[in-house]
Amino acid sequence: MPANSPTLLRQALTSSSRLRILIFLFIALLLLYILFPYSSPLSPTTSVSSYSSSSLSTTATSSPSHLLFGIAASTHTWPRRREYLRAWWRPGITRGIVFLDSIPPFSPDNDRDVPPFRISADTSRLPYSFKGGQRSAIRVARIAKELFDAFDGKIAYGDVRWIVLGDDDTVFFLENLAGTLAKYDWEQWYYVGSFSESAEQNAKHSFDMAFGGGGFAISYPLAKVLSKVMDSCLLRYGHLFGSDARVFACLAELGVGLTREPGFHQVDLRGDLFGLLSAHPLSPLISLHHLDSVDPLFPAKNHSEALRHLLKAVNIDPERILQQTVCYDHKELRTISVSWGFAVQVFEGNELLNDLLASQRTFRPWKRGRSATSAIYMFDTREFPKDPCKRPAIFFLESLYSSLSRTESNYSRQTSGNCLGSSVSTKRLQQITVSSEKSHLEIGKALRRHCCDVIDSSHEAVMNVKIRKCKDDELIAMHP
Ligand SMILES: *[C@@H]1O[C@H](CO)[C@@H](O)[C@H](O)[C@H]1NC(C)=O
Ligand SMILES: *[C@@H]1O[C@H](CO)[C@@H](O)[C@H](O)[C@H]1NC(C)=O
Repeated sequence: MPANSPTLLRQALTSSSRLRILIFLFIALLLLYILFPYSSPLSPTTSVSSYSSSSLSTTATSSPSHLLFGIAASTHTWPRRREYLRAWWRPGITRGIVFLDSIPPFSPDNDRDVPPFRISADTSRLPYSFKGGQRSAIRVARIAKELFDAFDGKIAYGDVRWIVLGDDDTVFFLENLAGTLAKYDWEQWYYVGSFSESAEQNAKHSFDMAFGGGGFAISYPLAKVLSKVMDSCLLRYGHLFGSDARVFACLAELGVGLTREPGFHQVDLRGDLFGLLSAHPLSPLISLHHLDSVDPLFPAKNHSEALRHLLKAVNIDPERILQQTVCYDHKELRTISVSWGFAVQVFEGNELLNDLLASQRTFRPWKRGRSATSAIYMFDTREFPKDPCKRPAIFFLESLYSSLSRTESNYSRQTSGNCLGSSVSTKRLQQITVSSEKSHLEIGKALRRHCCDVIDSSHEAVMNVKIRKCKDDELIAMHP
């Protein structure tokens, strides 16, 4: 064809103007990206990982504002336990209702730091026949329905993507909850939660059920159907013990099974949670429950002080909270295990990573009075030595600092229990400073544990640890 053919010319013209339009669009997007990094259409997932309030915009793929909470409480427990809600609730961002069993004697103060409450509907016509159980299980199961009914038709489609149910003593870690749920398509039917830590409790109730105290999430379209059929299910399952078992049974009849996420914690444990919290699974921490029934999370603090202390770290780098990173001090032949935002352990000698991933049994079974099965847990455990000299040196979170992209956290030595270790250098160690980049939950990406280095310190009482991404073929071992 001749070069001056009009068709060719036209094609050349259109493709060059197309190119110009493309270049223009590219520059416009780049400008948008630079000006509004958090709500950028190019990286919608980054917003989940950031704690800044700009990340909580409704345009993000998932944020705490897309969650609707139904909190099970009673007039008896609410005055005390609302301190837990106050610790994690975000007024103006999180939405939900606290369901009470009766009109409270206290006046409905305009407490904006906790969700509004309402009185659950009467359930006396529904059957309950579990011997020794409590009828309130029906009321609490019905929260799934009453919560949905209260909001349906009043919110725009897509504004609420999940309903989340929990108890008044469930503490949710909002960024991690929203970030984890964002892995799943909320427009499909999903039921997300986890089982109990206690094998006995699971054997008794179900291995396939989301335990209610750890909290669980139901995608909005599934919640819609559930709210329609709930009362029919409640008629058939009067013989079950709990509220969570009723919801589970009804979802099973709808053909839906549990999607298990290990970050939900029912905490059917007692005593000291140190072993559990210092060896958290690689998944982000989503919830903790039963904090009244265990020791305060930090020594020398009461329950609410200790929770607020942990939340200081959560607020700085939510995804990294409790994430376990292990590195080796080659000079002193020591093994360091960091549970970020909570504690650091220093072991003398070489501990294999595989051993450190098991939880030290600092806690006790949920059921008092031993049966053969009560001390079987749903995760790997190992002994926590009775002899303090055989234990690692333990350092608890003291203070934190964060800049835009980095964090520094200091951990100080636990002084009670007076064995200071056998080596002189461990005896002198008083403080550990851990520095790290802020983590970013990349939704849908496989999780990989981070590595760390022990950095030379100018002071013998201080150890510096730097957390970083592992190199491609790096192994977490003293002598790889
Ligand atoms: C916990 O400690 C804080 C600060 O010392 C105090 O204000 C609060 O009343 C204490 N809470 C309980 C339940 O003792
Ligand atoms: C941690 O400790 C180091 C050394 O004592 C100190 O310089 C630093 O300011 C501390 N950081 C925080 C966040 O407290």
